[in-house]
Amino acid sequence: MIYIKDTYATKTGELWDCGLSDLLKEVIANIDTSQVDAVYVGNMLGGVLNEQLNLGAKVATIIGRNLPVVRVEAACASGGVAVNQAWQALKAGFYSNVLVIGVEKMTDFSNEEVARALAMAADNTTEFNNGVTFPALHALVAQAYLNKYNLAPAVLDAVSVRSHQKAFADDKAQFHKKITEDDVRASAMVTSPLKLYHCSPISDGAAAIVLSTEQTDLELAASVTLASREFALADRSDLTSFAVVQEAVAKLDLSELEIVEVHDCFVIAEIIALEDLGIMRKGQGWQEPEHVKVNVRGGLKAGGHAIGATGVKQMVTLAEEMRTHQYQLGLAHNVGGVGAQVALNLIKKR
Ligand code: COA
Repeated sequence: MIYIKDTYATKTGELWDCGLSDLLKEVIANIDTSQVDAVYVGNMLGGVLNEQLNLGAKVATIIGRNLPVVRVEAACASGGVAVNQAWQALKAGFYSNVLVIGVEKMTDFSNEEVARALAMAADNTTEFNNGVTFPALHALVAQAYLNKYNLAPAVLDAVSVRSHQKAFADDKAQFHKKITEDDVRASAMVTSPLKLYHCSPISDGAAAIVLSTEQTDLELAASVTLASREFALADRSDLTSFAVVQEAVAKLDLSELEIVEVHDCFVIAEIIALEDLGIMRKGQGWQEPEHVKVNVRGGLKAGGHAIGATGVKQMVTLAEEMRTHQYQLGLAHNVGGVGAQVALNLIKKR
């Protein structure tokens, strides 16, 4: 069995005085790396924005010894897929302790540069080359959802208000601002029907977790990752759920789930996630579930979304919450592209 040992996350936000190396140094300084046999690093934009590839050597240099380090890129699911790769390597018996890091430095660049870099997570033949942005792709999904269930755009607003409310008390979250539905309505239109407060922000941050064969109080009980055979939105018959996520979910028993971190890069993504996970009925994912705690620290929307760090930060959040509260079963749901890759990591308290 595979267990969770140390965890650590930096603040997520506009960390102007931190570069990519500083973020890596901070997480490594706060984790015991003495027993670590290998490292997996989730990162999407190091090459495109930071002009830093070969993150393996960067990480080994900071740790201060030669060891296997593998960079994993799966767009916004880079962190969750890195967790999966570490879990597989431990399961296969190659290692006893594996460090997983997620890291991203996005805020030293213009919004145009970041939007272009992020759009590389879309299909470059049909989407990126035609100038789409991630907010625009999610706006298509949001519009399809509202049309299918005959809902007004206002149903999106409460989802954002809840996220900002939950992030308020987390000193590592990007936003500490309670908002109302009126604030959401009054915020700038980004790409109809999505307004500013329907979007996650551009963020810096890093997170780390040590997975081990040595028993602890938390088991990484299951880990599933899948890439979609329908990359581009134009390949799909239905935009209101993500088939690849549903296929991954079918591999897990989530009937006793108590706490979940869902990939809410836009509020519509949270709505679809809750439906794909079977937590809410179709057409009702915009309401707050009663039986499962969702994104208790504000998720990506208000906690921040430092792309490659997100899937690992979700694990840190769940581990901390499960260690301090009575939750027995928790799930991290990390998605890359618009439902194009998924990593589901299931944590059980022993
Ligand atoms: N939610 C709430 N507030 C936000 C915000 C967000 N998503 N993004 C920025 N803000 C705030 C800023 O803190 C700033 O507040 P201040 O004036 O009090 O300091 C203000 O809004 C303007 O910030 P700015 O950075 O100029 O916003 P922007 O208009 O340039 O960018 C978005 C806003 C929504 C376009 C940008 O955050 C974005 O592209 N988000 C999506 C990122 C994405 O696609 N990620 C991948 C997901 S798959």
